[in-house]
Amino acid sequence: MVVRALGRPDYIYQQVELSLRNLKVEALDLWQLHDVDANVPIEETLGAAARLQEQGKIKDIGLSNVTLEQIERARKVVEIVSVQHMFNIAHRQQQPIVEYCETHNLAFLPYFPLGGAWLPMPDEALARAAARHNVTSVQLCIAWLLQYSPAILPIPGTSSIKHLEENMQAAELVLTPEEWTAVERDIAA
Ligand SMILES: NC(=O)c1ccc[n+]([C@@H]2O[C@H](COP(=O)([O-])OP(=O)(O)OC[C@H]3O[C@@H](n4cnc5c(N)ncnc54)[C@H](OP(=O)(O)O)[C@@H]3O)[C@@H](O)[C@H]2O)c1
Repeated sequence: MVVRALGRPDYIYQQVELSLRNLKVEALDLWQLHDVDANVPIEETLGAAARLQEQGKIKDIGLSNVTLEQIERARKVVEIVSVQHMFNIAHRQQQPIVEYCETHNLAFLPYFPLGGAWLPMPDEALARAAARHNVTSVQLCIAWLLQYSPAILPIPGTSSIKHLEENMQAAELVLTPEEWTAVERDIAA
């Protein structure tokens, strides 16, 4: 099934009301535009978000799956605090957007930070590099993201408390420049 992004203002108002009701809150701390509707100018979609912000129904506004050009257009309409895109140790196509976020003081939320359930990661090389640091491959992926850019805020998905605890511990691993280079060499091999 193909789900098309819907960016008409009426749809945005309706969805925010539904989120407020489902979450039982008076305001959404961070509302993110999930995808840009190819048939609605981003200015119009974000104009609706700006009105919801004025009404106090959303606090901060972010974007997802956008181009650099769309980020710039969006920032002329509202203040943008975050951008979400696929990014992880094995998939770095959005590196220019990470750099843009760093330069403009926006948070970059990498989705599929661990590669997601279905993306192939360079398993053997990653496991070798992780073993050298006495951590799991997943912990190395998280530590790598945290160290890649100060703009990056990884939110790994998990349904397990044990994994959640392991993932939190990953923040303790800080690679020296030499160790970083060795990890990069290993996973590129
Ligand atoms: N904006 C967008 O277009 C977009 C698209 C996709 C996803 N997202 C968001 O991005 C976030 C992350 O995405 P995601 O959860 O799909 O991908 P992910 O975080 O890369 O991977 C989650 C998978 O990793 C496993 N995992 C987590 N911690 C682990 C550990 N310590 N050891 C072993 N396995 C572990 C999880 O299984 P267990 O449950 O067994 O731990 C789950 O199968 C979510 O908040 C999601 O909503 C946004």
